Amino acid sequence: MTSTLYQQIQQFYDASSDLWEKVWGEHMHHGYYGAEGTERKDRRQAQIDLIEELLHWAEVQQAEQILDVGCGIGGSSLYLAQKFGATAIGITLSPVQANRATERATTFGMANSTLPNASFQVANALAMPFADGSFDLVWSLESGEHMPDKAQFLQECCRVLKPGGTFIMATWCHRPTHLQPLTEDEQRHLADIYRVYCLPYVISLPEYEQIAKDLPLKNIRTADWSTAVAPFWDVVIDSAFNPLAIVGLLRSGWTTIQAALSLNLMRRGYQQGLIRFGVLCGRKYE
Ligand SMILES: C[S@@+](CC[C@H](N)C(=O)[O-])C[C@H]1O[C@@H](n2cnc3c(N)ncnc32)[C@H](O)[C@@H]1O
Repeated sequence: MTSTLYQQIQQFYDASSDLWEKVWGEHMHHGYYGAEGTERKDRRQAQIDLIEELLHWAEVQQAEQILDVGCGIGGSSLYLAQKFGATAIGITLSPVQANRATERATTFGMANSTLPNASFQVANALAMPFADGSFDLVWSLESGEHMPDKAQFLQECCRVLKPGGTFIMATWCHRPTHLQPLTEDEQRHLADIYRVYCLPYVISLPEYEQIAKDLPLKNIRTADWSTAVAPFWDVVIDSAFNPLAIVGLLRSGWTTIQAALSLNLMRRGYQQGLIRFGVLCGRKYE
């Protein structure tokens, strides 16, 4: 089951990343539209603002060795490497993404006359090929929802973190269920999202927090940023109707077309309070 899931994720990103980059750019994550979700801004700027808001929220002012877990085509890795003058390593399940991220690092270096110290490889976040305590910032934007074992994912992120280093994660969640379990309708809605976006399942933010509390992390904080990011799906849905996107979709194959046709599942999920955008940070004990 797990290897099938990994293959599906790999194929999904192998097939769709080129189109995503052409239409939406190098960041494959939500944008930040102000705490109330009311700020109007350029889509790419909103995505950069999400990165900056996360750094600010987690009080990260400096980093030297960064790991970007589930790096896509290296949008965050390159941004962070340049911002902090740091070394960044990105991992993804998709060879197409790893190659494209490597190519982007080279192009970026030529355009900016200093090569960012960023490298990319295909590796599994649940069994990372890095020694304990290798990084002072472990960063994961919207990859946790793909992980078949959420506890192992957080354990691995914490293992490779240096003592005193910071873990920051943003991930798709479902609503907390302590007051009311998920209804059958909600479970069906989630199942549709899982199928289309290659997710094994998602959990609630309090469940992530509980997992984090069992790890050698202190100053654990969580927040629900659903209101701030939900407008992103309106923007993505609008842009999916431009001719470049339509031609690209037809070329990318069925999984990508299906994902595009299902964008409304996410929009509705936010509207109904079922889908939540959870953020979590913590510092490893020294
Ligand atoms: C939605 S993309 C996010 C990309 C990037 N973080 C960004 O914000 O632009 C999800 C990423 O998670 C990666 N991913 C999913 N499961 C993974 C796993 N088990 N190990 C490593 N990467 C994984 C995918 O390959 C993909 O690069």
